[in-house]
Amino acid sequence: MTKNDTQHQAVLVEEVLASLNPQQGNYYIDATFGRGGHTRELLKRGAKVIGFDFDQQSIDQAKELFKKEIDNKQLILIRENFSKMKESLENLKKSLHLEVSGILFDFGTSTDQLMSKERGFSFEASEEILDMRMDDRLGVRACDLLKLLDEKQLAKMLFEYGGETEARAIARKIVALRKKDPNSLDRVGTLVKLIEESKSHRYGQKIHPATKTFQALRIIVNDELSNIEIALPQALKIMQESKALDKRIVCISFHEGEDRLVKTFFKQVENDSLGKLINKKALVASEEELQNNPRARSAKLRALAL
Ligand SMILES: C[S@@+](CC[C@H](N)C(=O)[O-])C[C@H]1O[C@@H](n2cnc3c(N)ncnc32)[C@H](O)[C@@H]1O
Repeated sequence: MTKNDTQHQAVLVEEVLASLNPQQGNYYIDATFGRGGHTRELLKRGAKVIGFDFDQQSIDQAKELFKKEIDNKQLILIRENFSKMKESLENLKKSLHLEVSGILFDFGTSTDQLMSKERGFSFEASEEILDMRMDDRLGVRACDLLKLLDEKQLAKMLFEYGGETEARAIARKIVALRKKDPNSLDRVGTLVKLIEESKSHRYGQKIHPATKTFQALRIIVNDELSNIEIALPQALKIMQESKALDKRIVCISFHEGEDRLVKTFFKQVENDSLGKLINKKALVASEEELQNNPRARSAKLRALAL
């Protein structure tokens, strides 16, 4: 299948396969199904997959793209937050005997989400509502946060979750603007313009001036780091309870906050002699992959054998 710029291209596919070591007929959890790029490779190798995604659009798309595999029960899809993975798996086990051999997490957003209309992830879509919820059952949108948080909280959020060094200036401008016209911040373009004005003295930046602010908002709206913190111990428990032989947990992170959680958790598991790191250092994309998929640039893969 040829990909266009709006379709997600899975990262570190060879590295995922080497780390997960999928075996024919065994069950694997893809905790972040997305467009199913990694799942497709597992299915090709005869593995069975339980795919989680909390985005209804991702699940709907998967039902079309993977109809055959769903019909023949090689793929089971669950629309749920991976922080509830254990409970969902226990429900599934009431009607199906299965032992899980591996769990894959590929954190963050997919290109499909970033490029889709009316979701407000992309700073290029200026007319869209600043929403950013991957799961539309969540209550608070990014534009709501801009109205709810005080200046100090806004600055802290932008700095801690986006690494935005101009966080205080941006927060000050947000608060000033919302006093004048609270609803203007509902649109992507208003926030982007405000950030560009706050950072207009900075030339030669490699990334768009709004990148860090948008990352911070997305992480908070979707509770991304808390979900990871909750899910990793569950993943370990699932693997410990499984009677499968060669068991693996594989995580792909895209920014420091995610990677720190994975690294710390895996180290603790190893220190407690409950598992072993497969690679001492995180795996990153090859030059060849980067040529075809620049999104892989920040990807880091860590894997644990149990
Ligand atoms: C980077 S994409 C995964 C791409 C996928 N590996 C592929 O090859 O197409 C991340 C996906 O995980 C989903 N996701 C993020 N956080 C989640 C969570 N807490 N629970 C369930 N799904 C989540 C997003 O909706 C998105 O579809």
